[in-house]
Amino acid sequence: MNLKIAVLAGDGIGPEISEQGVSVLTAVAEKFGHQVSYKSALCGAAAIDAVGDPFPEETFNICQEADAVLFSAVGDPKFDNNPSAKVRPEQGLLAMRKKLGLFANIRPVQTFDCLIHKSPLKDELVRGADFICIRELTGGMYFGEKREGDDMAYDTNKYTRPEVERILKVGYEYAMRRRKHLTVVDKANVLASSRLWRKVAQEMAPQYPEVQTDFMYVDNASMRMIQEPRFFDVMVTENTFGDILTDEGSCISGSMGLLPSASTGTGTPVFEPIHGSWPQAKGLNIANPLAQILSVAMLLEYFDLKEEGALVREAVDASLEANVRTPEIQVEGGAKYGTREVGQWIADYIRRK
Ligand code: IPM
Ligand code: MN
Repeated sequence: MNLKIAVLAGDGIGPEISEQGVSVLTAVAEKFGHQVSYKSALCGAAAIDAVGDPFPEETFNICQEADAVLFSAVGDPKFDNNPSAKVRPEQGLLAMRKKLGLFANIRPVQTFDCLIHKSPLKDELVRGADFICIRELTGGMYFGEKREGDDMAYDTNKYTRPEVERILKVGYEYAMRRRKHLTVVDKANVLASSRLWRKVAQEMAPQYPEVQTDFMYVDNASMRMIQEPRFFDVMVTENTFGDILTDEGSCISGSMGLLPSASTGTGTPVFEPIHGSWPQAKGLNIANPLAQILSVAMLLEYFDLKEEGALVREAVDASLEANVRTPEIQVEGGAKYGTREVGQWIADYIRRK
């Protein structure tokens, strides 16, 4: 297969983990005889500093011409504490999602047995939890009409039927491939937009008779995720709720640094870790590259390269098993491996296989 990859390394630890993602993808390509080419492009604070725009037109063009985007992280503290900053790195991420039509954000919540002790939840509650949160990514409050005055401000949570239908369809398709259980998370007891979601889901449910559809209010869902994470199989929800619940999901597994994500829709799909740019660790070679490397697995699986994706996952499991781990997940007394060393170990494992 020929694959053109746009590489958006971004800020903070982004460039370091990006390098390891690319090196693993290259190892897979060599092993399986695929042609993969890369084109790097600016985004986030790095792009603001260079050209004054967190998602420049040139980056957009490079993404559009690519088959997939391998994204790392954006964000820089110099913008966080300045509410009057005109442009922010995060706007680059939102612009990318909107311009590429990436309406579906797929975030798996998965546990790794050897990291269960890192979970803030009790072992017996969290062990075996394995669900996917599908977050609507280009609608709702993040993109609705806004006004920002000194004495009054608002954001509008607007959804149209086609927007709701297409994201629920993604939810049902995932549910069909998994344990056939879809939970639609909303706030239909209060919000009109949520009632539209519920209505559309109730209309669609009969098309998927094998799938058990349930509805859960978001406040209840946030509680259930802590009390009984194994209840969930596929969860689908609007942009804002999904943003919040996926952060919750990422920490219950104890493996925040290990969780990848995919954003798909009408344009070039984007694969990225769910963690942020961790500016304090920039350049220190301590960031965990596994979420980025697992994003490569998701990328391969997206193109139906199942064996390739499975090998990346196997290599990641093997690295954990061999205690080739970055400091934050290393076992007591274990040697501390750097970002590069973990990435290299995994790429070598793939080549040797
Ligand atoms: C995420 C991030 C972004 C979001 C920010 C950086 C705009 O938190 O991907 O979840 O809120 O969507
Ligand atoms: Mn978020």
